[in-house]
Order: sequence, then C-alpha cells, then structure tokens
Amino acid sequence: MEKEKKKFYIRTFGCQMNFHDSEKISGVLSENGFSEVQDGDRDKADIIIFNTCSIREKAEQKFFSELGRLKRLKRQRPGLKIAVAGCVAQQMGRELLRRAPFVDCIAGPQNIHSLGHSIGRILLEREAQPGGLDNGGPGPDIDVNIGENPGLASMELPAARKKKPGAWVSIMYGCDNFCTYCIVPFTRGREVCRPAGSILDEMRRLAEDGFREVTLLGQNVNSYRSPAGDTGFPGLLEMADRVGGIKRIRFVTSHPRDLSEGLIEAVGGLEKLCEHIHLPLQSGSDAVLARMNRRYILADYMDKIDRLRGRLPGISITTDIIAGFPGETEEDHRATMAALRRIEFDGIFAFKYSARPGTPASKFPGRLPAEVSAGRLEEILALQDEITLRKNMALEGSIEEVMVEGPDEKNKNCLSGRTRTNKIVNFSADPSMVLSAGDTVALKIIRGRRHSLEGELPAP
Ligand code: SAH
Ligand code: SF4
Ligand code: F3S
Repeated sequence: MEKEKKKFYIRTFGCQMNFHDSEKISGVLSENGFSEVQDGDRDKADIIIFNTCSIREKAEQKFFSELGRLKRLKRQRPGLKIAVAGCVAQQMGRELLRRAPFVDCIAGPQNIHSLGHSIGRILLEREAQPGGLDNGGPGPDIDVNIGENPGLASMELPAARKKKPGAWVSIMYGCDNFCTYCIVPFTRGREVCRPAGSILDEMRRLAEDGFREVTLLGQNVNSYRSPAGDTGFPGLLEMADRVGGIKRIRFVTSHPRDLSEGLIEAVGGLEKLCEHIHLPLQSGSDAVLARMNRRYILADYMDKIDRLRGRLPGISITTDIIAGFPGETEEDHRATMAALRRIEFDGIFAFKYSARPGTPASKFPGRLPAEVSAGRLEEILALQDEITLRKNMALEGSIEEVMVEGPDEKNKNCLSGRTRTNKIVNFSADPSMVLSAGDTVALKIIRGRRHSLEGELPAP
C-alpha cells in the first residue's frame, strides 16, 4: 500500500511577494511528495508553516500570537512540526528559538528552495528520534543564509497557484533603496533581477494553463534591468504585452524616483498593460521625505503624476502613506493632507510609523507618542475615504471592462470582478450568460461605493 502523504498547512502574513513565496513553498513541497491542507484542516497537518512579515510591529505580533497558540497543539501532538519562513525568520534567525523553542525549522525568504529538503529531513529524522530541541531531540534546521544570487533560485521555483484568473510572476527580488524606516532590504537582501526569457516563458505557461492576468512582482519593479543587460522595465513590458492568451498585465511596486518617461509611455501605449499604478508617496513633506531617504521631493512626485495623467487621463493611482514618522511636525502632517487633497488618489494604504530594529529611523530623535500618530492616521484615512467615494461615484453611468474573478463573497448570487483600473465591481449576471473567471464583460457602473463599485449588464 502506498504510504499516505505527509500534510502541510501554510499561514501567510505580509505583502503580495510573501503570498507568492507561499505559492512557491507549496509548489516545492508538493513536488517533494507532500500534500497541502486548507484552512479548516490545519489541525490535521503534520507540519505547519508560517510565512511571516516584519514590516510593522503589528504584523510580527500577530504571527507571534498565532505561533503561541500552537504551543498547546504541539504538546498534544509531539509529532507536529513547525516551520517559520519569511521576513521574521530572516531577521531573527536563531533568536526566534529563544522566544519559541518548539520551532523545528527556520528559513529566510531566500532559502525557499531548500525548504523541501529541510522539511523532509526534520519529518524523517524526528520520526526516528522524536522530541524537539527542548527535550533532547535533534536540533532545529536553520537556513537564513543570504548567499550569492539566492533570490534568483527562489524566483525560478514552481508556484502552486490556487486561484484563476490572476497570477503573480516574480521579476526581481530584494531591494537596494534603504528607505530609513524599512526592514525589507535587511530581510530580502540586495536587488536581483530575473532573466527576461524566464519571465516570458512563465507567462506563456500561465496562459496555456488558463490564467488571463499577470501581475509582475518586485519591491521596486521599475528599476528592473535584465541580467543580460539587454532590457529595462519598459522593454520587458513590451515583450510581456505580446504574450498570447494573457489579457491583462499589472505590476507592483514602483518607486517614484525610478518612474521613467519610457514607463509612462508603456502604461499609456501598451494594450494589455492596465491603467493603474501603485506609487508610494509616504509623505507630503519634503523634510520628512528627505529623512526617509526617498530621494524625491513632492514637486518631483507631482510632476510624474501630471505626466501620467497627461498621457492617460483615466489612469488610477494608488499610494502608501506613513503617519507619524519620527520628527514629523503638525505642519508636515498638514503637507501630507494637502498632497492627498491635491492629488486625489483612487485609494491609499496608510500606516502608523513602526520602529523596526536595525533600521536607521529607529534611532532617529523625535519619536511621536502613539496617540499622535494614531490621530494623524485617522485624519488621513477619513480624508481619503471621502476622496475615494467621490471618485467612485463619478464613475456612475460609465461603461467599464470588467474581468470576472468569481462569486461575490458577500452575495453568492452575484459575481465579482475588477476594472482595468483595479477597482472591484460586483454585479448580478443574467443566468442565461455563462461567465467564468477570466472572462471580460462590459458593465455599466450603477453605483460607486467606498471600497467597490456596483455594475450591471447594459441593456441591449
Ligand atoms: N517596496 C514597496 C513597499 C514595501 S512595504 C515600496 O517601496 O513601495 C509597503 C509599505 O509599508 C511601504 O510603502 C510603507 O508605506 C509601509 N512601511 C514600510 N515600513 C514601515 C514602517 N517601519 N512603519 C510603517 N509603515 C511602513
Ligand atoms: Fe522598503 Fe523603500 Fe525598498 Fe520599498 S523601496 S521595500 S519602502 S526600502
Ligand atoms: Fe513583510 Fe517581508 Fe513583504 S517584511 S511586507 S513580507 S517583504
């Protein structure tokens, strides 16, 4: 009789890159003979993997509290193994064991490729010799080395994607920008770009497998340069646009400083490239931007927005804002509010500044009391809510191309999809129309809400 496959469960925190890494972990483990269990079956898993995020303290705390809850499960089932991957694993390494000695395996974001072996080994060794570090069993497996081009190996791994029509494709790994608040350059290491040929091959395979939308992923995609030196980001987009079967292409994240004329032209001119850009501003104050090491001033940013909108008036622009950076004055905060009013983003992600160990800003003077940052964050979010609602309402009556993603989560009789500008549209489909994920339909927008639009099939 064939031996039953060992089961694994992955819980992911953090950004799209981390979620995509989880798809790769899943791909690697599946290739190594493991089978994945979904949310409801976590307690049946032989190994539980946390793919962690350390961008803000809150993300880290959430992971530690979930990890803490597993301690009891592990006591009940000593055979259960726990692996911690991702940015917290990289940042803390062996120190993680002091807080959680019951962890069996630690692997940084650059060591995903070795996770299959590590996990196979701990499961086999521990079967022969049960018990963990704390009770005399074999020691945990730790792999947080940042070696030569390790990101490259991660980028080439087979990803087990769960949902159509969209797929993430890594084009670069790591970040060289060293914004003073940010942990990413320390957890993901230096910027490494993936060869253009291998990106395009993956896109072709995805098209054959029935995926219709590709999001090119990297911490700073517009600084992409193919390792062969023959193409930059706009060139890559041009080649990607020619991959048959893919209907839409997106990319995240762009750094304002590297947003070139070539990219603006590509966004304006390429057919499949969607009319949306996520361009993190972080602050509207030049003094704060300088201390963040963002290397642009508000006027540069505004100029790029004007050029994007000049080329493509309907483009949707979203951003990230940090409230309460060390030394941020009331006046700096007002400058951010004024920038939000002037630019009128389609949506923002805003966060309270969180000091990350080892980053330059964590040693900056002028740390603000939590309630001050919280108050500023609230003002920012309230202002943006008004702007987003106004912009979404302005779409009422217009016709938008919507790609169907699946049933609407709140109302299973309705469908949900996205506009090219990345706005969610819920609509009820005529039962005589058979629509499936990846199909595109022209919908009339009948209502703009704060976080979504409501659409209907226009009368024939
Ligand atoms: N590479 C991407 C974003 C990475 S992190 C980029 O540069 O756009 C996503 C967002 O988290 C950042 O844009 C920033 O707004 C926020 N962020 C990063 N570090 C933070 C910190 N220490 N405290 C609060 N927010 C932070
Ligand atoms: Fe962090 Fe800045 Fe790099 Fe983005 S560009 S990942 S914010 S260091
Ligand atoms: Fe978090 Fe690491 Fe992404 S810190 S935001 S998971 S790069």
